[in-house]
Amino acid sequence: MLEAVLLVGGQGTRLRPLTVTTPKPMLPVAGVPCTEHQIARAREAGVTRVVLGTSYRPEVFLDYFGDGSRFGVELVYATEDVPLGTGGAIRHVAPHLLSGPDDPVLVFNGDILSGHDIAGQVQAWRDSSSDVSLYLTRVEDPRAYGLVPTDADGRVTQFLEKPSTPEEIVTDQINAGCYVFRRSVIDSIPTGRPVSVERETFPGLLARGAVVTGFVDDGYWLDLGTPLAFVQGSCDLVLGRAPSPALPGRTGQFLVRPGAEVEPDAILSNGTFVGAGATVGSGAVVDGSSLFDNAMVAAGAYVKDSVIGSGAIIGSGARLDGVVVGDRAVIGPGNELVRGARVWPGVALSETSVRFSSDR
Ligand code: GTP
Repeated sequence: MLEAVLLVGGQGTRLRPLTVTTPKPMLPVAGVPCTEHQIARAREAGVTRVVLGTSYRPEVFLDYFGDGSRFGVELVYATEDVPLGTGGAIRHVAPHLLSGPDDPVLVFNGDILSGHDIAGQVQAWRDSSSDVSLYLTRVEDPRAYGLVPTDADGRVTQFLEKPSTPEEIVTDQINAGCYVFRRSVIDSIPTGRPVSVERETFPGLLARGAVVTGFVDDGYWLDLGTPLAFVQGSCDLVLGRAPSPALPGRTGQFLVRPGAEVEPDAILSNGTFVGAGATVGSGAVVDGSSLFDNAMVAAGAYVKDSVIGSGAIIGSGARLDGVVVGDRAVIGPGNELVRGARVWPGVALSETSVRFSSDR
């Protein structure tokens, strides 16, 4: 038996207003919650039991996943009364784990879309007799991430959270948000208070001389934490760039769910997703965007790099570029919204043309 823990309790503040009603890991990425993509990939790697570490809106997960049988795994829930942070959440699930003290336990951040070799990471953890193995990926600009340099043997030498000076950028390897823990290490995390695994647990393990190794994998990786990344992940799934057994065999430029209506002269491109019951009017252009269920893009509208929430309406001739529109919001005809604009659920913009400064 191989167990996995999915950390899904964050508030997802950077993805507001989409996360006002739906936790970030439950937002549909190409129509399927990120958590479902992760469960499908974990299952493919041999995971049979998943513990969801919830905190923010736990009922949304329970309603969708139930006992997990529909998704081929046994699913249990560990809900924090108050958010305990990434490390505190991992410790909080411990009483729900069945693994023995020296068994591996996979832990995923709940907002990561990846194509990395999960089974290979577990094997590397075994081969190196690690206490913890971290999945690392390489990025061009690592400044926004946690840097994790390793030595020639793959042992982690340092943890540098979001470096601020050029001298601190000692590697292009970053923490990609999937770990293999020795079960006993999880039990050693302090209980009953918030703990950051990145800032406290991992540096503490290094200081104690624990075996902490990096598993570098250059397969597909994306942190879905920001609106731009979120829509990118959706498009990558639709275009088949991001692998997911929950959405197999993708090749087309767009994905239209059954029950959606797209006028024949509308143009959908660059991985656009159109959810069930959504409509796209005559001559509208939807480029690299995601329309949640029952969203409507009226005739002649132009929507690029944007996320349109459930039941939201984009009026005729409106132009949106890099915008997040909350559920049931209404963008009146002719409005123009530019990069970084966010419209809250249920808000109606009638005739005013609105511009926001970029906050992405
Ligand atoms: P932002 O508010 O936009 O930073 O998003 P977030 O709240 O999801 O935080 P972050 O992206 O840093 O979290 C990484 C992962 O850990 C996400 O999958 C979160 O759901 C999860 N997470 C963060 N904090 C907690 C917590 O206190 N408890 C639990 N169970 N999960 C958490």
